[in-house]
Amino acid sequence: MQTIRDIHSLRKAVAELRKNGGKVALVPTMGALHAGHMALVAEAKARAEHVVVSIFVNPTQFGPNEDLGSYPRQEERDAELLAEAGCAILWLPEVGTMYSGDHSTSISVGGVSDGLDGAARPGHFAGVATVVAKLFNQVQPDIALFGEKDYQQLAMLRRMVRDLDIAVELVGVPTHRDADGLALSSRNAYLSTEERIAARALPRALGEAAQAILAGGAVNEALERARAILAEAGFSQVDYVVLCDAETLEPVAELARPARILAAARIGRTRLIDNLPVAPLA
Ligand code: PAJ
Repeated sequence: MQTIRDIHSLRKAVAELRKNGGKVALVPTMGALHAGHMALVAEAKARAEHVVVSIFVNPTQFGPNEDLGSYPRQEERDAELLAEAGCAILWLPEVGTMYSGDHSTSISVGGVSDGLDGAARPGHFAGVATVVAKLFNQVQPDIALFGEKDYQQLAMLRRMVRDLDIAVELVGVPTHRDADGLALSSRNAYLSTEERIAARALPRALGEAAQAILAGGAVNEALERARAILAEAGFSQVDYVVLCDAETLEPVAELARPARILAAARIGRTRLIDNLPVAPLA
């Protein structure tokens, strides 16, 4: 595996890979890799001959009071994991390589990124859209893989690729969970032992709500019950628990089309998100 830190060398290395034929897959990450990230890499390996993984803790997607400074970083271990997994290129730009001092372009994707985390984290999705568009232009992959864990991010990027005619196929990968159901996340590292146990309530609350809705229960009641489960478990703040159209992410009051139940809640100083599919029976 080659570790590359400048754009010129990156373009040369990708061109070399392409000489041998076969598809190039890109897996964008912010590092501190866990089994969820590695599931994306494995899926990329299954779908393409050459896999490029980027690690870049993107400052523009963090709000002023968020965890940019304390975000976990473990470059050496990440590089080992990726080499073992058969990744061809690790793209590891510095902030100054990614953003020139007078960088002044931003991509904003309307609609799908307005609510939910878009409302709770102003500027976050513009930061994600802009850096992912840059990564697409830098690597020019045939396919790019993203986790359903960050469902709104995936929905927004699908919209961006469609609206801007970007020649990349997006692949969504199901959420990888710990044995007790908690979705793997780099931010789980912030949880104390007690908080980690209490955090199980998040997938449980979503699972119970999804089941109740599938069984024909009232959507509002199911969501209210999920909020109560989170509060009882010790979540200090529930940002949202909502049922949304799976594509547009518009809130829905009843199950007519494929939907997604999405939640964000805080436990201690840590904000966790999760989501589950809720599809009407055919
Ligand atoms: P990061 O949080 O590092 O996640 C990188 C990719 O891994 C994303 O596509 C995310 O959805 C996926 N992922 C994270 N946890 C997962 C899990 N438990 N199961 C499956 N996939 C999981 O998301 C970002 O970085 C950034 O916003 C990025 C897209 C790299 C842009 O900066």
